[in-house]
Order: sequence, then C-alpha cells, then structure tokens
Amino acid sequence: MSTASTRGTRRSPLARHLGTLMFLAGLIGALAFGWIVFPPLMYSSTEQPIQFNHKIHMGEAGMACADCHPFRDDGTFAGLPTTAQCAECHEEPIGDSPLEKAFIDEYVRKGREVEWLVYSRQPMNAYFSHVAHVTVGKLTCEECHGDHGATETIPPYQVNRISGYSRAVGGAATAGRALLPTEVMRMDTCSDCHEKHGRRSPCLECHK
Ligand code: HEC
Ligand code: HEC
Ligand code: HEC
Ligand code: HEC
Ligand code: HEC
Repeated sequence: MSTASTRGTRRSPLARHLGTLMFLAGLIGALAFGWIVFPPLMYSSTEQPIQFNHKIHMGEAGMACADCHPFRDDGTFAGLPTTAQCAECHEEPIGDSPLEKAFIDEYVRKGREVEWLVYSRQPMNAYFSHVAHVTVGKLTCEECHGDHGATETIPPYQVNRISGYSRAVGGAATAGRALLPTEVMRMDTCSDCHEKHGRRSPCLECHK
C-alpha cells in the first residue's frame, strides 16, 4: 500500500510530461524522416564515370576556364571538353596519379568520350544560352555555378526519382543538406536574377 502510493507520486511528474515527451519524440522522428530517410528515397545517386579535379588544372597546370569550356569561333558555347582536348596533355602520364592512369587507360587509349553527368542540366522545356549570359550579359561563371571550377572532387549526380530532374534543378527545398544558392539552378534562380537586373521576363522568354 505504502509502496504503491510512493510509486504513484514518483510517476506523476513523468505522467505530466508524457505528452510533451511524446510530442518531442514525434517531432524528432518526423525531422529524421524528412532530413535523413526521405532524401535518399526521393533521389537516386549515380557516381560520375570518373573523378575530375578542377583545382589541379587551374593551379598546377595553369589553365583558364576557356581552355576547356570555350566559346567557338561562331560564338556558341562548346560546353564540356572532349577526350582529344585532354589528350593534348595526357597522351602519356604526366605524374604518377592512379586517377590519371585510369583516365588514360579507359578513355585516351580507347578513344572514348567521358559521359559526364551535368548537374545543372535543364529540362527540355526551358531554354538557356551561355552566349546571352556570358558574352552579352557579362556575368561570371561563379555567379551561377559557384565554386565548381575550383573543386578537387565532384559529387555524385542525384536525380529526382519522380521528375527525372537533376537535384540542382528539381529540388533544393526538400533535400537533406540544404543546397547553396549557387548549387541550385531552378526557375526561381533564373527569375530572381532577372529581376535583380531589371528584367521582367515573360514565360515565353524561357519556355520556348
Ligand atoms: C582541364 C579542363 C577544364 C578546365 C580548365 C575547367 N574545366 Fe570545368 N569541367 C571540366 C570537366 C571534365 C567537367 C565535367 C566534370 C565535372 O562536372 O566537374 C567540367 C565541368 C564543369 C562544370 C559543371 C557544369 C554542371 O552543371 O555539371 C562547371 C560549372 C565548370 N566545369 C566550370 C568551370 C570553370 C568556372 C572553370 C574555370 C575556373 C573550369 N570549369 C575550368 C573540365 C575543365
Ligand atoms: C594543359 C595540360 C592539361 C590538359 C589539357 C588536361 N590536363 Fe589533366 N592534368 C594536367 C596536369 C599538369 C596534372 C597534374 C599531374 C600530376 O602532377 O600528377 C593533371 C592531372 C590530371 C588528373 C589526375 C588528377 C588527380 O587528382 O590525381 C586527371 C584524372 C586528369 N588530369 C584528367 C584530365 C581530363 C579529363 C582532361 C580533359 C578534360 C585533362 N586532364 C586535361 C594537365 C592537363
Ligand atoms: C546565368 C547563369 C550561368 C552562367 C553565368 C554560366 N552558366 Fe554554365 N550553365 C548554366 C545552366 C543553366 C546550365 C545548364 C544548361 C542546359 O541544360 O541547357 C549550364 C551548363 C554548363 C555546363 C555543362 C555543359 C553544357 O553546356 O550544358 C558547363 C561546362 C558550364 N555551364 C560551364 C560554365 C562556364 C565555364 C561559365 C563561365 C564562362 C558558365 N558556365 C556560366 C548557367 C550558367
Ligand atoms: C545571375 C543572373 C542570371 C541568372 C541566374 C539567369 N539569368 Fe538569364 N539573363 C540574365 C541577364 C543579365 C540577361 C540579359 C543579358 C543581356 O542581354 O544583357 C539574361 C537574359 C536571358 C534570356 C534572354 C536572352 C536570350 O537568350 O534570348 C533568357 C532566355 C534567359 N536569360 C534565360 C535564363 C534561364 C532559363 C535561366 C535559369 C536556368 C537564367 N536565365 C538564369 C541574368 C541571369
Ligand atoms: C527566367 C526564365 C523563366 C521564366 C521567365 C519562367 N520560367 Fe518556368 N521554368 C524555368 C526553368 C529553368 C524551369 C526548370 C527548372 C525548375 O523546374 O525549376 C522552369 C519550370 C517550369 C515549370 C515546371 C515544368 C516541369 O517540367 O516540371 C512550369 C509549370 C513553369 N516553369 C511555368 C512557367 C510559367 C507559367 C511562367 C510565366 C509566369 C514561367 N514558367 C516563367 C524558367 C523560367
């Protein structure tokens, strides 16, 4: 009898906080689902065919962005470099990096192109031109791509399982680690900057 009543008084503070505790447990569960469990369910991840180190090429090799990503003589943007461009330096190994050896064995010697996955790739219904932004608009690469040109490694390419869009395009808001503004290339990114430049773009300027 006395034991029971003692237990009763001991239990009551817990009972009073039980509601709060259950709420917190539920909240933590929901956050864990949203930040840890949900993103992997939402996005499928693919490694790039091979790693690439921008920093070594900008630093040690002393190259400029335009050496690999030039505007052609007719003004159009060439985009990603071909294996032949890389082979101008990597016909034979320069150093003793295993990554360089793998690149030479798998791509240079076999004459194959690397099928790079483009993080900022836009859907078919959105029109984008580097010429308008870089050559005419005088914007820097970094204003849109952040520090990609200074990175030592490249992350896996993530695709939204439902829309099929790259994570950089399809879904910054829900994903585990919030993406930096410069890692994102969504409609808002385009429109916000257009507005900042005093440009009121009608839908059909971008959706042709
Ligand atoms: C030696 C050649 C080389 C040089 C020099 C170079 N790049 Fe690259 N760049 C690549 C290759 C290869 C890729 C594909 C792999 C990757 O995503 O990093 C790439 C990819 C990119 C992408 C990825 C676009 C996307 O959305 O997937 C950006 C942005 C980029 N480069 C910007 C730059 C900038 C800015 C510079 C100068 C600061 C630069 N690059 C210099 C070879 C080069
Ligand atoms: C102008 C010459 C030049 C060009 C063109 C060039 N590279 Fe390099 N690359 C270098 C130098 C220099 C190094 C550093 C070599 C060393 O010290 O190990 C290097 C290193 C590398 C490495 C090893 C990186 C590491 O982290 O170990 C890889 C892989 C590589 N390059 C791939 C490429 C690819 C792919 C391209 C074409 C998109 C390319 N390179 C174009 C000069 C060049
Ligand atoms: C106004 C924003 C903006 C600027 C400035 C910009 N880019 Fe891009 N970049 C994009 C977008 C958007 C894409 C995706 C294009 C697509 O899917 O059609 C892209 C794609 C790329 C790609 C992938 C290959 C391709 O052509 O799709 C490379 C490489 C690249 N950019 C490099 C650069 C470099 C180097 C600079 C500076 C000279 C630069 N970009 C400036 C927005 C920009
Ligand atoms: C960092 C700023 C910035 C971002 C981000 C940006 N733009 Fe622009 N855009 C501009 C500016 C500035 C101009 C006007 C260039 C000029 O004519 O001087 C422009 C012009 C344009 C034009 C008209 C020129 C043409 O090619 O017909 C289109 C279309 C366009 N942008 C589409 C896009 C799309 C799509 C995106 C997103 C994927 C985007 N822009 C992202 C700044 C930006
Ligand atoms: C400055 C360029 C720009 C303007 C202006 C613009 N859009 Fe977009 N829009 C995009 C880009 C880039 C995407 C793809 C990236 C994304 O989904 O955020 C997109 C995506 C969309 C989508 C999703 C399509 C899909 O495949 O999932 C719809 C719907 C859309 N836009 C409608 C509109 C309408 C309606 C307007 C006019 C009120 C408009 N957009 C104006 C650039 C633009």
